[in-house]
Amino acid sequence: MEEHESLRKTVTFITGGAGDIGGATAELFAKEGSHVIIADVNDAAGKKLEGKLRRKGLAATFMHMDVRNESEVERVMNEVGRKFRKIDHLLNIAGGALPEEQKRLDMSVQTFRDSLELNLVGPFTVTKHAFPLLKKGTNPTVVNTSTYNAAMAVGNPAYTSAKAGLEGLTRYLASHLADHGIRVNAVAPGAVPTKRVIALYGGRKNELEKNPVFKELKRRTPMPRFGKPEDIAQAFLSAVKLKFMTGHVLRVDGGASSGRHVV
Ligand SMILES: NC(=O)c1ccc[n+]([C@@H]2O[C@H](COP(=O)([O-])OP(=O)(O)OC[C@H]3O[C@@H](n4cnc5c(N)ncnc54)[C@H](O)[C@@H]3O)[C@@H](O)[C@H]2O)c1
Repeated sequence: MEEHESLRKTVTFITGGAGDIGGATAELFAKEGSHVIIADVNDAAGKKLEGKLRRKGLAATFMHMDVRNESEVERVMNEVGRKFRKIDHLLNIAGGALPEEQKRLDMSVQTFRDSLELNLVGPFTVTKHAFPLLKKGTNPTVVNTSTYNAAMAVGNPAYTSAKAGLEGLTRYLASHLADHGIRVNAVAPGAVPTKRVIALYGGRKNELEKNPVFKELKRRTPMPRFGKPEDIAQAFLSAVKLKFMTGHVLRVDGGASSGRHVV
């Protein structure tokens, strides 16, 4: 390990750690010296990332965990407690809009509930059961993943509501966990053409560029590009490093949520 690594001897637990944004974040935190636990339902992608990081000499462990399954979350936290004794940083990254949500107001009520379950109840469940281990961490933090949608009338009703709720939960937890020395913030990414988003909106990256929603979004965004997973990974690291910041939503969206000037 090198001297400049800022997260030496820390343990970072990342839900959705096998995904595009989660994976870039896992790699960045591992390079900073943290032991990253990649918690995901995608076993193949999780094991692949674990292997890739280990081959680079970085510390990574994959654990299967569905954030919607409370007993599984409890079991995984018990295992983390036995193996690592603590969690310094919990990054709740698992989430995303469900394909059925593209029907917007025509989606079923069940789909609306499913989105809340994944994007809002999931982060609550994981944070609740990680709490005893976070209390044993050094400068512990929780970072949730919101979206630019939460501050704008875009996206679809379920996902937008779930992430807006997650911002409310972030402020609530920040206030209540401060007594335990735990900071709680959220990162709100702008549009990042990850494999999941590309599949949701068109199927291929160049088709996403042609999609009317994304064309309009790009036109309204002050910075003339979409985000990259690495941009968002840097935001998670900043949220961990800014030691006087809690209850904050860090918007990393090229200015999308600030709105583009019209005159
Ligand atoms: N890509 C974007 O444009 C964008 C914008 C704003 C916010 N976000 C948010 O960023 C996060 C990551 O998105 P992404 O685009 O990298 O997607 P992704 O699909 O690449 O990553 C999500 C990961 O979460 C995992 N996952 C899904 N359901 C799970 C569950 N129930 N339990 C545990 N793991 C589960 C998936 O297997 C996947 O590895 C999400 O919370 C998403 O809402 C993404």
